[in-house]
Amino acid sequence: AEKIIIDTDPGQDDAFAILLALASPEVELLGITTVAGNVPLSLTHRNARQVLELAGRSEVPVFAGCAKPMAVPLVTAEHVHGATGLDGAELPEPVMPLQDRHAVDFIIDTLMKEPGGAVTLCPLGPLTNIGTALTKAPEIASRIRRIVLMGGGLFEGGNITPAAEFNIFVDPQAAAIVFASGVPIVMMPLDVTHKVRTTRERVERIRALDGEFGAVTAGWLDYFERFDEEKYGTEGGPLHDPNVIAYLIRPDIYDGRLCNVEIETESELTKGMTVVDWWKVSGRPANALFIRDVDDAAFFSLLTERLAVLASA
Ligand code: BDR
Ligand code: CA
Repeated sequence: AEKIIIDTDPGQDDAFAILLALASPEVELLGITTVAGNVPLSLTHRNARQVLELAGRSEVPVFAGCAKPMAVPLVTAEHVHGATGLDGAELPEPVMPLQDRHAVDFIIDTLMKEPGGAVTLCPLGPLTNIGTALTKAPEIASRIRRIVLMGGGLFEGGNITPAAEFNIFVDPQAAAIVFASGVPIVMMPLDVTHKVRTTRERVERIRALDGEFGAVTAGWLDYFERFDEEKYGTEGGPLHDPNVIAYLIRPDIYDGRLCNVEIETESELTKGMTVVDWWKVSGRPANALFIRDVDDAAFFSLLTERLAVLASA
Protein backbone atom coordinates (compact mmCIF):
# COMPACT_ATOMS: atom_id res chain seq x y z
CA ALA A 1 0.00 0.00 0.00
CA GLU A 2 1.11 3.56 -0.67
CA LYS A 3 1.83 5.36 2.62
CA ILE A 4 0.05 8.69 2.78
CA ILE A 5 -0.47 11.67 5.04
CA ILE A 6 -3.68 13.60 4.42
CA ASP A 7 -3.35 17.32 5.12
CA THR A 8 -6.83 18.78 5.36
CA ASP A 9 -9.36 21.44 6.42
CA PRO A 10 -12.64 19.47 6.65
CA GLY A 11 -14.90 20.45 4.84
CA GLN A 12 -17.58 18.02 3.61
CA ASP A 13 -15.57 17.08 0.51
CA ASP A 14 -12.45 16.62 2.64
CA ALA A 15 -14.49 14.23 4.79
CA PHE A 16 -15.26 12.10 1.72
CA ALA A 17 -11.57 12.00 0.86
CA ILE A 18 -10.70 10.81 4.37
CA LEU A 19 -13.42 8.14 4.26
CA LEU A 20 -12.31 6.93 0.83
CA ALA A 21 -8.74 6.58 2.09
CA LEU A 22 -9.87 4.67 5.19
CA ALA A 23 -11.87 2.29 3.00
CA SER A 24 -9.09 1.60 0.51
CA PRO A 25 -6.41 -1.08 1.01
CA GLU A 26 -4.31 0.53 -1.74
CA VAL A 27 -3.33 3.30 0.68
CA GLU A 28 -2.06 3.28 4.26
CA LEU A 29 -3.09 6.42 6.14
CA LEU A 30 -0.22 7.26 8.53
CA GLY A 31 -1.94 10.29 9.99
CA ILE A 32 -4.11 13.30 9.35
CA THR A 33 -2.66 16.78 9.64
CA THR A 34 -5.06 19.69 9.85
CA VAL A 35 -4.80 23.29 8.74
CA ALA A 36 -6.88 26.45 8.83
CA GLY A 37 -8.87 26.85 5.63
CA ASN A 38 -12.57 26.25 5.12
CA VAL A 39 -12.97 27.03 8.82
CA PRO A 40 -10.43 27.93 11.56
CA LEU A 41 -7.96 25.33 12.83
CA SER A 42 -9.88 24.67 16.07
CA LEU A 43 -12.72 23.30 13.95
CA THR A 44 -10.72 21.46 11.28
CA HIS A 45 -8.94 19.23 13.80
CA ARG A 46 -12.23 18.58 15.56
CA ASN A 47 -13.94 17.75 12.28
CA ALA A 48 -11.18 15.37 11.20
CA ARG A 49 -11.62 13.45 14.45
CA GLN A 50 -15.40 13.35 14.01
CA VAL A 51 -14.92 11.79 10.59
CA LEU A 52 -12.52 9.16 11.96
CA GLU A 53 -14.92 8.29 14.75
CA LEU A 54 -17.80 7.99 12.30
CA ALA A 55 -15.70 5.40 10.47
CA GLY A 56 -14.68 3.68 13.72
CA ARG A 57 -11.02 4.47 13.02
CA SER A 58 -9.97 6.56 16.01
CA GLU A 59 -6.52 4.92 16.03
CA VAL A 60 -5.44 7.16 13.12
CA PRO A 61 -3.56 10.07 14.74
CA VAL A 62 -4.73 13.64 14.12
CA PHE A 63 -2.36 16.60 14.40
CA ALA A 64 -3.16 20.31 14.45
CA GLY A 65 -0.99 22.44 12.21
CA CYS A 66 -0.84 26.07 11.20
CA ALA A 67 -3.63 28.39 12.33
CA LYS A 68 -2.90 30.99 9.69
CA PRO A 69 -1.25 31.25 6.27
CA MET A 70 2.49 31.89 5.99
CA ALA A 71 2.28 35.57 4.99
CA VAL A 72 -1.31 36.73 4.57
CA PRO A 73 -4.40 36.88 6.82
CA LEU A 74 -6.66 33.82 6.89
CA VAL A 75 -9.68 33.71 4.57
CA THR A 76 -12.30 31.05 5.40
CA ALA A 77 -15.27 29.59 3.50
CA GLU A 78 -18.21 29.26 5.90
CA HIS A 79 -20.39 30.48 3.02
CA VAL A 80 -19.72 27.13 1.35
CA HIS A 81 -19.27 24.68 4.23
CA GLY A 82 -21.37 26.21 7.03
CA ALA A 83 -20.30 27.55 10.42
CA THR A 84 -18.85 24.22 11.58
CA GLY A 85 -17.23 23.29 8.26
CA LEU A 86 -19.23 20.06 8.32
CA ASP A 87 -22.78 21.40 8.31
CA GLY A 88 -25.46 19.03 7.06
CA ALA A 89 -25.17 16.30 9.69
CA GLU A 90 -25.09 16.20 13.48
CA LEU A 91 -22.14 14.32 14.90
CA PRO A 92 -21.13 14.03 18.57
CA GLU A 93 -18.09 15.92 19.84
CA PRO A 94 -15.09 13.64 19.26
CA VAL A 95 -13.64 11.79 22.23
CA MET A 96 -10.41 10.63 20.57
CA PRO A 97 -7.45 12.82 21.51
CA LEU A 98 -5.70 15.41 19.39
CA GLN A 99 -1.98 14.57 19.25
CA ASP A 100 0.41 16.88 21.09
CA ARG A 101 2.92 17.17 18.29
CA HIS A 102 2.52 19.98 15.73
CA ALA A 103 1.40 18.77 12.30
CA VAL A 104 4.50 20.25 10.66
CA ASP A 105 6.76 18.24 12.97
CA PHE A 106 4.75 15.06 12.35
CA ILE A 107 5.19 15.55 8.60
CA ILE A 108 8.95 16.15 8.95
CA ASP A 109 9.52 13.31 11.47
CA THR A 110 7.54 10.83 9.38
CA LEU A 111 9.39 11.66 6.18
CA MET A 112 12.76 11.35 7.93
CA LYS A 113 11.83 8.09 9.64
CA GLU A 114 10.25 6.26 6.70
CA PRO A 115 12.44 5.13 3.80
CA GLY A 116 13.13 7.84 1.20
CA GLY A 117 10.43 7.90 -1.47
CA ALA A 118 7.95 5.96 0.65
CA VAL A 119 5.48 8.64 1.71
CA THR A 120 2.99 10.57 -0.43
CA LEU A 121 1.48 13.83 0.81
CA CYS A 122 -2.18 14.49 0.02
CA PRO A 123 -3.05 18.15 0.67
CA LEU A 124 -6.76 18.94 0.52
CA GLY A 125 -6.65 22.48 1.87
CA PRO A 126 -4.35 25.51 1.86
CA LEU A 127 -0.71 24.40 1.59
CA THR A 128 0.46 26.14 4.79
CA ASN A 129 1.60 23.02 6.66
CA ILE A 130 3.47 21.62 3.66
CA GLY A 131 5.09 24.95 2.78
CA THR A 132 6.13 25.42 6.40
CA ALA A 133 7.57 21.89 6.62
CA LEU A 134 9.59 22.40 3.40
CA THR A 135 10.92 25.68 4.78
CA LYS A 136 11.80 24.30 8.21
CA ALA A 137 13.38 21.10 6.86
CA PRO A 138 14.28 21.43 3.16
CA GLU A 139 15.87 17.97 3.31
CA ILE A 140 12.40 16.39 3.31
CA ALA A 141 11.79 17.39 -0.32
CA SER A 142 13.88 14.59 -1.77
CA ARG A 143 12.23 12.06 0.56
CA ILE A 144 8.63 12.73 -0.49
CA ARG A 145 7.36 10.19 -3.03
CA ARG A 146 4.94 12.69 -4.54
CA ILE A 147 2.40 15.35 -3.63
CA VAL A 148 -1.12 14.75 -4.95
CA LEU A 149 -3.17 17.84 -4.14
CA MET A 150 -6.50 19.50 -4.77
CA GLY A 151 -6.04 23.06 -5.94
CA GLY A 152 -5.81 25.53 -8.77
CA GLY A 153 -7.46 25.79 -12.13
CA LEU A 154 -6.86 26.92 -15.68
CA PHE A 155 -9.67 26.98 -18.26
CA GLU A 156 -12.25 26.74 -15.46
CA GLY A 157 -11.24 30.02 -13.78
CA GLY A 158 -11.38 30.58 -10.03
CA ASN A 159 -13.97 29.92 -7.32
CA ILE A 160 -12.91 32.47 -4.68
CA THR A 161 -11.76 35.19 -7.09
CA PRO A 162 -12.13 35.17 -10.88
CA ALA A 163 -8.50 34.02 -11.11
CA ALA A 164 -7.93 31.81 -8.08
CA GLU A 165 -9.11 28.57 -6.56
CA PHE A 166 -9.68 28.66 -2.78
CA ASN A 167 -6.87 26.39 -1.53
CA ILE A 168 -4.16 28.20 -3.49
CA PHE A 169 -5.66 31.64 -2.83
CA VAL A 170 -5.66 31.22 0.93
CA ASP A 171 -1.90 30.63 1.10
CA PRO A 172 -0.21 31.57 -2.19
CA GLN A 173 3.23 31.81 -0.57
CA ALA A 174 2.99 28.22 0.68
CA ALA A 175 1.73 27.06 -2.72
CA ALA A 176 4.68 28.77 -4.42
CA ILE A 177 7.08 26.91 -2.12
CA VAL A 178 5.41 23.58 -2.91
CA PHE A 179 5.42 24.12 -6.67
CA ALA A 180 9.10 25.17 -6.56
CA SER A 181 10.13 22.24 -4.35
CA GLY A 182 11.10 19.79 -7.09
CA VAL A 183 8.81 17.15 -5.58
CA PRO A 184 6.68 15.38 -8.24
CA ILE A 185 3.23 16.99 -8.10
CA VAL A 186 -0.15 15.79 -9.34
CA MET A 187 -2.80 18.49 -9.17
CA MET A 188 -6.58 18.09 -9.16
CA PRO A 189 -7.73 21.55 -10.27
CA LEU A 190 -11.27 22.86 -10.66
CA ASP A 191 -11.04 21.82 -14.32
CA VAL A 192 -11.43 18.21 -13.25
CA THR A 193 -13.33 18.51 -9.95
CA HIS A 194 -16.13 20.48 -11.63
CA LYS A 195 -16.73 17.38 -13.76
CA VAL A 196 -17.41 15.29 -10.64
CA ARG A 197 -20.97 16.23 -9.74
CA THR A 198 -23.24 14.91 -7.03
CA THR A 199 -26.37 14.27 -9.08
CA ARG A 200 -29.59 13.21 -7.30
CA GLU A 201 -29.12 9.59 -8.29
CA ARG A 202 -25.55 9.53 -6.96
CA VAL A 203 -26.57 11.10 -3.65
CA GLU A 204 -29.43 8.65 -3.23
CA ARG A 205 -27.08 5.70 -3.70
CA ILE A 206 -24.95 7.10 -0.87
CA ARG A 207 -28.00 7.80 1.32
CA ALA A 208 -28.96 4.14 0.95
CA LEU A 209 -25.74 3.00 2.67
CA ASP A 210 -26.22 1.24 5.99
CA GLY A 211 -27.49 3.06 9.06
CA GLU A 212 -26.11 6.32 10.35
CA PHE A 213 -23.37 6.29 7.77
CA GLY A 214 -25.66 6.81 4.78
CA ALA A 215 -27.68 9.52 6.51
CA VAL A 216 -24.61 11.47 7.64
CA THR A 217 -22.70 11.35 4.38
CA ALA A 218 -25.77 12.15 2.25
CA GLY A 219 -26.58 14.98 4.69
CA TRP A 220 -23.18 16.48 3.97
CA LEU A 221 -23.75 16.24 0.23
CA ASP A 222 -27.22 17.81 0.50
CA TYR A 223 -25.72 20.72 2.38
CA PHE A 224 -22.61 21.11 0.25
CA GLU A 225 -24.38 21.03 -3.09
CA ARG A 226 -27.05 23.59 -2.19
CA PHE A 227 -24.36 26.23 -2.58
CA ASP A 228 -22.92 24.96 -5.83
CA GLU A 229 -26.22 24.21 -7.55
CA GLU A 230 -27.23 27.79 -7.04
CA LYS A 231 -23.88 29.01 -8.23
CA TYR A 232 -23.27 26.83 -11.26
CA GLY A 233 -26.86 26.07 -12.24
CA THR A 234 -26.15 22.36 -12.56
CA GLU A 235 -27.70 19.29 -10.98
CA GLY A 236 -25.51 18.62 -7.97
CA GLY A 237 -22.29 20.31 -6.90
CA PRO A 238 -18.68 19.37 -7.56
CA LEU A 239 -17.00 16.98 -5.15
CA HIS A 240 -13.41 18.22 -5.10
CA ASP A 241 -11.11 16.60 -2.56
CA PRO A 242 -11.82 12.85 -2.89
CA ASN A 243 -10.36 13.00 -6.39
CA VAL A 244 -6.94 13.14 -4.74
CA ILE A 245 -7.46 9.76 -3.11
CA ALA A 246 -9.29 8.27 -6.10
CA TYR A 247 -6.28 9.15 -8.25
CA LEU A 248 -4.03 7.04 -6.00
CA ILE A 249 -6.37 4.08 -6.41
CA ARG A 250 -7.49 4.47 -10.04
CA PRO A 251 -5.08 6.74 -11.96
CA ASP A 252 -6.41 5.10 -15.13
CA ILE A 253 -9.71 7.01 -14.86
CA TYR A 254 -7.89 10.38 -14.95
CA ASP A 255 -6.17 12.20 -17.78
CA GLY A 256 -3.90 15.23 -17.77
CA ARG A 257 -0.72 16.83 -19.03
CA LEU A 258 2.70 17.46 -17.50
CA CYS A 259 3.13 21.25 -17.45
CA ASN A 260 4.96 24.07 -15.82
CA VAL A 261 2.80 25.63 -13.09
CA GLU A 262 3.77 28.84 -11.31
CA ILE A 263 1.86 30.59 -8.52
CA GLU A 264 1.01 34.29 -8.58
CA THR A 265 1.71 35.72 -5.13
CA GLU A 266 1.79 39.49 -5.67
CA SER A 267 -0.94 40.85 -7.91
CA GLU A 268 -4.08 42.07 -6.13
CA LEU A 269 -6.15 41.03 -9.13
CA THR A 270 -4.79 37.52 -9.67
CA LYS A 271 -3.23 36.51 -6.33
CA GLY A 272 -3.34 32.72 -5.88
CA MET A 273 -3.73 32.06 -9.59
CA THR A 274 -2.09 28.92 -10.91
CA VAL A 275 -0.34 29.99 -14.10
CA VAL A 276 -0.44 26.75 -16.07
CA ASP A 277 1.67 26.48 -19.21
CA TRP A 278 -0.73 24.06 -20.90
CA TRP A 279 0.49 24.97 -24.41
CA LYS A 280 4.18 24.89 -23.42
CA VAL A 281 4.89 28.43 -24.51
CA SER A 282 7.18 29.46 -21.64
CA GLY A 283 10.07 27.05 -22.05
CA ARG A 284 9.98 26.53 -18.28
CA PRO A 285 10.38 22.91 -17.16
CA ALA A 286 7.30 20.89 -16.25
CA ASN A 287 6.77 20.59 -12.48
CA ALA A 288 3.23 19.19 -12.19
CA LEU A 289 0.81 16.76 -13.78
CA PHE A 290 -2.29 18.90 -14.37
CA ILE A 291 -5.36 16.65 -14.41
CA ARG A 292 -8.16 17.86 -16.65
CA ASP A 293 -10.42 14.86 -17.30
CA VAL A 294 -12.01 12.04 -15.35
CA ASP A 295 -14.45 9.21 -15.94
CA ASP A 296 -16.88 10.62 -13.37
CA ALA A 297 -19.18 7.59 -13.44
CA ALA A 298 -16.21 5.38 -12.54
CA PHE A 299 -15.26 7.80 -9.76
CA PHE A 300 -18.74 7.58 -8.19
CA SER A 301 -18.84 3.80 -8.52
CA LEU A 302 -15.51 3.59 -6.71
CA LEU A 303 -16.57 6.04 -3.99
CA THR A 304 -19.93 4.36 -3.36
CA GLU A 305 -18.50 0.83 -3.34
CA ARG A 306 -15.77 1.78 -0.90
CA LEU A 307 -18.12 3.74 1.41
CA ALA A 308 -20.42 0.71 1.48
CA VAL A 309 -17.57 -1.35 2.96
CA LEU A 310 -17.05 1.22 5.73
CA ALA A 311 -20.79 1.53 6.36
CA SER A 312 -21.25 -2.18 6.91
CA ALA A 313 -18.05 -2.68 8.96
C1 BDR B 1 -11.41 23.45 -2.27
O1 BDR B 1 -11.77 24.45 -1.34
C2 BDR B 1 -12.50 23.90 -0.27
O2 BDR B 1 -13.63 24.67 -0.05
C3 BDR B 1 -12.80 22.47 -0.63
O3 BDR B 1 -12.74 21.64 0.54
C4 BDR B 1 -11.72 22.12 -1.61
O4 BDR B 1 -10.57 21.64 -0.96
C5 BDR B 1 -12.15 23.69 -3.56
O5 BDR B 1 -11.78 24.93 -4.10
CA1 CA C 1 -10.56 21.03 1.40
